[in-house]
Amino acid sequence: MQRGKMGRILIVDDEPHMRRILVSNLRQDQHQTWEAAGVQEARRHLATSDYDAVFTDQKMQDGEGLEVLKAARESDPSLSVVFLTAVGTIELAVESMRHGAFDFLAKPFQPEVVRAAARRACEQTRLRRENELLKGAVVRLEGTSEIYGRNESIVALREKIARVAPTSATVLITGETGTGKELVARAIHHSSPRSSKPFVAVNCAAFTETLLESELFGHEKGAFTGADRSRQGLFEAAHEGTLFLDEAGEMSLAAQAKLLRILTDGQLIRVGSTKPRTVDVRVLVATHRDLEQRVREATFRQDLYYRLAVVPIHIPPLRERRDDIPGLCQMFSRQIATDLKLPQRRISATALQSLMQYGFPGNVRELRNLIERAYILSTQDEIGPENFPVAPASDVPAAVNNNGHKDSGHLPSPESPQQSFDLTAFLEKTEKELILKTLASTGGAQAEAARRMGLSRSALAYKLTKYGIKPAGE
Ligand SMILES: Nc1ncnc2c1ncn2[C@@H]1O[C@H](COP(=O)(O)OP(=O)(O)OP(=O)(O)O)[C@@H](O)[C@H]1O
Ligand SMILES: [Mg+2]
Repeated sequence: MQRGKMGRILIVDDEPHMRRILVSNLRQDQHQTWEAAGVQEARRHLATSDYDAVFTDQKMQDGEGLEVLKAARESDPSLSVVFLTAVGTIELAVESMRHGAFDFLAKPFQPEVVRAAARRACEQTRLRRENELLKGAVVRLEGTSEIYGRNESIVALREKIARVAPTSATVLITGETGTGKELVARAIHHSSPRSSKPFVAVNCAAFTETLLESELFGHEKGAFTGADRSRQGLFEAAHEGTLFLDEAGEMSLAAQAKLLRILTDGQLIRVGSTKPRTVDVRVLVATHRDLEQRVREATFRQDLYYRLAVVPIHIPPLRERRDDIPGLCQMFSRQIATDLKLPQRRISATALQSLMQYGFPGNVRELRNLIERAYILSTQDEIGPENFPVAPASDVPAAVNNNGHKDSGHLPSPESPQQSFDLTAFLEKTEKELILKTLASTGGAQAEAARRMGLSRSALAYKLTKYGIKPAGE
């Protein structure tokens, strides 16, 4: 192994036999090792010496691995802690990753696996220390600020990103299309010690089975028809950086087996080769599919799923955080105006109201596209509701006919199935009712009604003529 990569490693386990195995494995790579037989002893070591990595058992006679993790964090926040887990304690391992553990190793261990984990852990500690020196901060939040959201789910999401970013943990990002999965992956990379190294994104659904394998893992010359020279794969291209596997639910079982190998011992084999190559890549995975379901159907490996789901991040659909819609509209309106070199436009209150009730099957991406389309297609200095889709048809008759004037501001529920209907007629009817309702509530005062609906007076006057509305007193 390369000089400078060996480290000072503290081994915490109450079984002398376990400690012996680890010591002998780690010494092969010239690491220096220290042993602690329990939590108390580990605390004393951590308080008095510096280490580059800690390997700790989970359950010991005088306490738990999590206490060791906590003590390690207190002595040096950059220190990587690796958990040693026994069969059937995967839950605990997952929990420890949530608390900031760097990695976990399942007993019984293979010597190469232990050594690879030690290498990565020491390297990670070193990177974090360097990073802290350079940046003067323990956690860098850049990149996450672009993820807009005041809803508590998004606030929690940003916090989670800040916590997982400095580790090398694999993260499984789930959410419907357009919720911001790739945005989250990029934010994790940018806030991580790997930010100056490549971020490589690959859409697994875009390749056939065989192509995906050679794309990810590379191939040797002659591995298949057309492979006229050997080529490195994306994992090698992402060395020391982050690989983002989008639509990972679509990977073939063969590719899944290879991915599992990389995640457990950092090794890959190119298609058509037998020689393992070592790579240091942090893997982030996204899917809009229910992977647990795929595991049940046996199209997704369970062991891989557990590896990937160590740190799950779920992004809720936009319709479950509607309070963020106005803020997102503002932000996108500003961005789009700048991009298109147009003056920024107001989004009228009625337009906003219809957006607040819409279902957004395409989530945040759809919202951005809608605003962009309104900028391009409309020439008015205010974006009105006619630019936006309304709720689906099935509820329309109920909303328009049955409710009549009583509850005309209410738009039909957006989640119901789509049917064809006359959009223009529906929009006009709704708009007319809204105007009538607003005028009624202002006692016929047009200036005030226009203000409440976010319309200019002349726009309201135009609409009054169009719908043949004669306000009281005129
Ligand atoms: N919270 C947010 N703040 C700002 N922009 C966002 C937010 N969420 C999503 N976006 C924007 O919405 C668009 C879609 O996001 P992204 O591509 O990350 O979604 P995705 O979940 O990967 O979608 P898909 O499953 O279709 O690939 C991007 O332009 C992204 O910048
Ligand atoms: Mg995506």
